[in-house]
Order: sequence, then C-alpha cells, then structure tokens
Amino acid sequence: MKKHTNEKLKLAFQELYRKIILVSAIIAIGAIALVYFMVDPSLSAFKKDKPETEIVTIPTREDDFDKIENGIHLRTGFVEAPGMMETVQNCTNCHSSKLVIQNRMDEERWKSTIKWMQETQNLWDLGENEEVIINYLVTNYPPSKKGRREVLTDIEWYQLEE
Ligand code: HEC
Repeated sequence: MKKHTNEKLKLAFQELYRKIILVSAIIAIGAIALVYFMVDPSLSAFKKDKPETEIVTIPTREDDFDKIENGIHLRTGFVEAPGMMETVQNCTNCHSSKLVIQNRMDEERWKSTIKWMQETQNLWDLGENEEVIINYLVTNYPPSKKGRREVLTDIEWYQLEE
C-alpha cells in the first residue's frame, strides 16, 4: 500500500515537472516573439515580396539629355528645326529657354538684342551661328500679330474739354 502511494506521488511529480517545462517553453517562445515584434513590428523579414529597390537611371548626355519628342526638345522646349541645337547651345546657358521662346521678335530686333547681350551681359561672339540662330528664331517663333491689339481704325476722336 505504501509503495503504491510513493509510486503515485512520483508520477504526480513527473507530471508536474513536465508541465513546468512545457509552460516555461511557451513563455520563452512568447518572449522571443515579443522581442522580435518590438524590433520588427511589420514582420518584414517574413514577407517574401519585399519592394524591389528602384533602379533610377540618370539620363546621360548620349541618350536623354538632348531627347526630342513630338518635335520638341524636351530639356528646353525648343521646336525641332534647323538651327535648334545652335540655339540650345548658345542661348540657354545664362537664362531659361523660356526667355528666348516668349520673346517673339523680327530679325532686326533679334540682332539688337544679341548685340545688347554681347555689350552688357558678356555674351560671346556667335560667329556664323548668329545667322543660324536668328533664322531659327524668326522662322519658328515669328513675331506674333496677336501679341498686341490691332491698330484701331475708324475712330471718332473727340476733343477733351477743360
Ligand atoms: C552670357 C550670358 C547670356 C547668353 C549666352 C545669352 N543671354 Fe540672353 N540675356 C542674358 C541676360 C543676363 C539677360 C537679361 C536677363 C534678365 O533681364 O533677367 C538676357 C536677356 C535676354 C532676353 C530678354 C531681352 C529683353 O529685352 O527682355 C532675350 C530674348 C534673350 N536674352 C535671348 C537670348 C538669345 C536668343 C541668346 C542666344 C543667342 C541668349 N539670350 C544668350 C544673358 C545671356
């Protein structure tokens, strides 16, 4: 009878011992998971489809730098036509191409504007390119008639009375 009781006690201890081990193991695993979750809350290490690092290609002079799309030189906005590259190379160094594009002038006024820049703004001697550039500008950006209102005709003038 006594032996039987001892045996039972032993078994009970063994059972208890096993449970303690099991519970400690669960707590340990939980603790590790908790620490991991604090370090990496989005669990990104387990996600397969990590966003691929984007490869950014920087346009080089050879390909995109002077790219022309739909007849427009993308970098400057100039219309593709004979003389465009000369204009790009000589007229966009100091100011935006917009300043050139929005100033619609005739040949005479272009000549004097260029002369003015040469005399006061250190614009270099354009040599033969001057004619090429002026031709390009006058052809592709002619003085627009819509820019200013038309000359009024048929006006009945009246005298201001004092
Ligand atoms: C060395 C520098 C330089 C270069 C190169 C240059 N410019 Fe200019 N340009 C200037 C400066 C500075 C101004 C005055 C800008 C301002 O008023 O803000 C100017 C002004 C202008 C203006 C405005 C003039 C006005 O009456 O308001 C036009 C148009 C112009 N440039 C066209 C050209 C063209 C076309 C070329 C190429 C042949 C050219 N520029 C090249 C320096 C330059």
